[in-house]
Amino acid sequence: MDISILGIPMDLGAGRRGVDMGASALRNAQLARTLRDLGHSVSDLGDVGVAIPETLDKHANGGLVFLEPIVDACRSAAERIAALPETAFPLTLGGDHSVSMGTVTGNALRGAPAGQGAGTRLGLIWVDAHTDYNTPTSSPSGNIHGMPVAHLTGLGDPRLTGLGGGWHMRPEDIVMIGIRSVDTREREALREAGIRAYTMKDVDQLGITRIVAETLERLGGVERLHVSFDADALDPGVCPGVGTPVPGGLTYREGHLLMELLSESGRVTSMDIVEVNPILDTHNQTAEVMVSMAASLLGQRIL
Ligand code: ARG
Ligand code: MN
Ligand code: MN
Ligand code: MN
Repeated sequence: MDISILGIPMDLGAGRRGVDMGASALRNAQLARTLRDLGHSVSDLGDVGVAIPETLDKHANGGLVFLEPIVDACRSAAERIAALPETAFPLTLGGDHSVSMGTVTGNALRGAPAGQGAGTRLGLIWVDAHTDYNTPTSSPSGNIHGMPVAHLTGLGDPRLTGLGGGWHMRPEDIVMIGIRSVDTREREALREAGIRAYTMKDVDQLGITRIVAETLERLGGVERLHVSFDADALDPGVCPGVGTPVPGGLTYREGHLLMELLSESGRVTSMDIVEVNPILDTHNQTAEVMVSMAASLLGQRIL
């Protein structure tokens, strides 16, 4: 496979500093080399330009903290990804989870004819402790990393929902896995939208194998699947370097099994790794674990 790595070193959407260094930490944990050793051809496209928070005054625009520079970074990421050939596998490195508004949009527009809302159908597998389904009015924090999924489906601020030029995700094409932290108003909106969310209770009860089988069946009509992997989906004992840790997460093996089974499906065509925070980490453990997750999604097997 032709893997294209693109970094989006942004922490403007998070409440704590440091995930802007996540892309660097992942490169440092031998991401490219690990994937080359699996037989892939890997090119690192470098980073998208992101405003430095110290050069900006922190302000909220309509309940959205750092809205304008986040729109700019997401637009740059979407343009870079949309320009890649359909055969490429974009592997995007955050950054906080707001980057996924740009990466998912870019992947949907990849290979699509230009024009209003011309994006192709894309399935979205959102691996996260959080549903990130807040809107500017429901968000308790104003942090945009808690809002990407809502905006991808067209709910929220027009400057963020407009990134795809009229293209939006269909809520039926989104499956979330690992969920254990949902805000009150977010929960109501999520239920209304009909997005399938597998909570940690579901993981305990059904197991990853059944969840992946159901997910692939639900997304049966969708050719291309995007995996957006927030490091905080894994238990904080496995991935301590995250800004919004929540106890009771996926084990190391549950994370790998999820990636291995998705890999076997042969249907995943792009991936994000987000929310890796080296400042809060223990000796780059979180980046190393996330590199191993990417490796499992991209063909690494035990035997
Ligand atoms: N629900 C909280 C909020 O909206 C936390 C979101 C955390 N999101 C993340 N990508 N880590 O502020
Ligand atoms: Mn997230
Ligand atoms: Mn999260
Ligand atoms: Mn468990």
